[in-house]
Amino acid sequence: MVILGFSTVLFAISTGALAVFPKSADPDRYGCPGYEVDGEVTTNRTSLTANLKLAGDACNLHGTDIERLKLTVEYQTDFRLHVKIEDADSQVYQVQEQVLPRPTSSSNITPVTPWLNFTYTTNPFTFKVARAISDEVLFDTAGSPLIFETQYVHVRTSLPQEVNLYGLGEHSDSFGLPESNYKRTMWNSESPFIPQNSNLYGSHPVYYDHRPTGTHGVFLLSSSGMDIDLGRTDTGRYLEYNTIGGVLDFYFFTGPDPAAVSEQYALIVGLPAMMPYWALGFHQCKFGWKDLNHVKEVVANYSAAGIPLETMWGDIDYMDKRRDFTPDPVNFPLSEYKEFINTLHQNNQHYVMILDPGIANDPSYPTFERGAQSGAFLRADDGSFYRGRQWAGEVVWPDWFAPGAQPWWTNEIQLTFDPSCGLPVDGLWVDMDEASNMCDNTLCFDEKPSPASTPTPVPSTGYHRRCPPPELHQGLPNRNLFTPSYHITNHAKDHSLSGGTLYTNITNADGTTQYDTHNLYGHLTALATRTALLTLHPNLRPFVLTRSTFSGTGSVAAHWFGDNASTWPHLRASITQMLTFTALHAMPMVGSDVCGFNSAAEPLLCARWAMVGAFQPFYRNHADITAPDQEFYRWEVVARAAKKAIDARYRLLDYVYTALHKASQTGRPVASPLWFAWPGDEGTYGIETQWLWGEWLVVSPVLEEGSMQVEMYLPRDVFYDFWTGERVQGEGKVVTLADVAWDEIPVHVRGGGILPLRVKGGMTTSEVRGVNFEVGK
Ligand code: GLC
Repeated sequence: MVILGFSTVLFAISTGALAVFPKSADPDRYGCPGYEVDGEVTTNRTSLTANLKLAGDACNLHGTDIERLKLTVEYQTDFRLHVKIEDADSQVYQVQEQVLPRPTSSSNITPVTPWLNFTYTTNPFTFKVARAISDEVLFDTAGSPLIFETQYVHVRTSLPQEVNLYGLGEHSDSFGLPESNYKRTMWNSESPFIPQNSNLYGSHPVYYDHRPTGTHGVFLLSSSGMDIDLGRTDTGRYLEYNTIGGVLDFYFFTGPDPAAVSEQYALIVGLPAMMPYWALGFHQCKFGWKDLNHVKEVVANYSAAGIPLETMWGDIDYMDKRRDFTPDPVNFPLSEYKEFINTLHQNNQHYVMILDPGIANDPSYPTFERGAQSGAFLRADDGSFYRGRQWAGEVVWPDWFAPGAQPWWTNEIQLTFDPSCGLPVDGLWVDMDEASNMCDNTLCFDEKPSPASTPTPVPSTGYHRRCPPPELHQGLPNRNLFTPSYHITNHAKDHSLSGGTLYTNITNADGTTQYDTHNLYGHLTALATRTALLTLHPNLRPFVLTRSTFSGTGSVAAHWFGDNASTWPHLRASITQMLTFTALHAMPMVGSDVCGFNSAAEPLLCARWAMVGAFQPFYRNHADITAPDQEFYRWEVVARAAKKAIDARYRLLDYVYTALHKASQTGRPVASPLWFAWPGDEGTYGIETQWLWGEWLVVSPVLEEGSMQVEMYLPRDVFYDFWTGERVQGEGKVVTLADVAWDEIPVHVRGGGILPLRVKGGMTTSEVRGVNFEVGK
């Protein structure tokens, strides 16, 4: 063993391993040679670099093995270790700096006593990351060959039995990830009914590993399509990455407190955006409101029912022919529409409007024409606009890497929403930004010929790119960008990469391809929209809601979990999804479509959901055009539950607003699982139906159909019932709360918590701001 470095073991080589990977451990990849360290290893106080070369005959499993790689290891701070393995020629795609700015060396705080140790073997090259203080191994690639091919990258870490893994969203599965036979696919996709065991709208390749000895996080900075598999062999558990490209760019966060990992991760992907105060109010939306009069009725009905309504939303119904920036002249006439939004403002209410990135392909549509002139749209191989199908019919899509795209988008937003002459909206909602293409599969136009549309040809041969050979990190040439040999488990209809989205062989203006940047499309749509809003209102915090996300989108926008359904399982999923985003993905401003998007909501479900939503960050009731209306005032029981829950939410608004501010400054989560506060209490590790709201409240709703009781776990601690002030001694066990009425949600304050409560709520957040505080309970 050779030890290099200073006060502690920074870089150690352990010898003795042989280039043998046990067959039973990894049958598919047996035969791949792995890599070996080639030549000198260079180290200094805080970094190590080495060259790696293929350690035997190429296996070319799903592409061509890349002969030479470069390893860079950096102790960026005491709590963050960066390990990067890339191709020596720097051609393989890497996420653009403007999308996810990396820490500069000056922003790295020279480590004094790094909490992690990096050790490696030279032949085969494998590496281990361990806690310095205890030598506890956190990540260990021995046992399975590193495979780095043109269209397939594989690395596996073994895991001890007693770890608890979380994260790797977006998913609707259990909050604690299953131990084996489990796959998380990262490929952003239109996902109606948020299916389980499936890729959904966003990709966040970060996991948190919580052990009784501490929590750490592992982030793979890669937008490549990938499967992350959790499994088990005769020798133990493992987690492995199988990507269709990109580099291995790992960040290890030491924790050891769970919330410290959240903070360390947020520092890399971007601290969450601070939201305007009003965004914490209650929002109402619906796809299918036929005209402005109907929308006005909804506002009036809320007021008549005495239920606070902060923000009304305009779905695509407001559009003329479902085209962005064009209010329907008959059903949403412009001057009346402006007047309506101004009236909302006079009542201290707000209005948010939808935009879809699919732009109608029609030269008589000014938005299209200006975009075409600006070079803002994606193009196919032959230089023509790349076409597909969206709400507006045949559409083209912005190429967010084209220099003309942002100025064009900003201009469209300014033209439409300039408060002095346009629609004075308070925020924008970007939808279908995976990007969703309503062609079910890659043969869309061929299968359903439409006289009005000229099909974009299906690529047949030659997966070449439009642009000249790539510059650094722009992606290897000569790849099959359409049907790579390694199939990630995309749920889109024909399971192909391009199913339901943009063809992956489309080239972006900067020379990269959709194959590599697909997972960034939603992030970029949200970022462009935020940038535009900042130009329009330089002194206001922008409010942008996006459906599709990538690591770091929390620094740009809020997110809702897409098209769920009005079912009890989806009410429960709203909690696990919320926890994954707020606590683990540095995205605090999130929530589900309250009462469910698809299908009919029944009142008792809606009552429970109205209360659950009131204790989550983004609180919006929304439903599909095919679903019956489900505003809270439509049922007496729901109205009662909503009023009570919104009142509590509003009294706590400053507590939550402060938590949100803290999140935006440090990355500390606004809502988190119970093990964040009781990391040593194993009883909390599997809990996914209760959560910490801020640092001091524990929310334990009833979530079962027909039930009036909840099985609630309270750690060994002192609590106070939020509603009655009664002292409750937690005993580290599950207790049953019976007779929880339809307008009640159990909430407990942790002993020692000080809640700044408004004396009462109000009909709007601005009214709440005028109410005095009491320091509660
Ligand atoms: C998508 C969105 C949904 C919206 C609908 C119409 O399905 O997810 O929220 O209502 O499009 O715009």
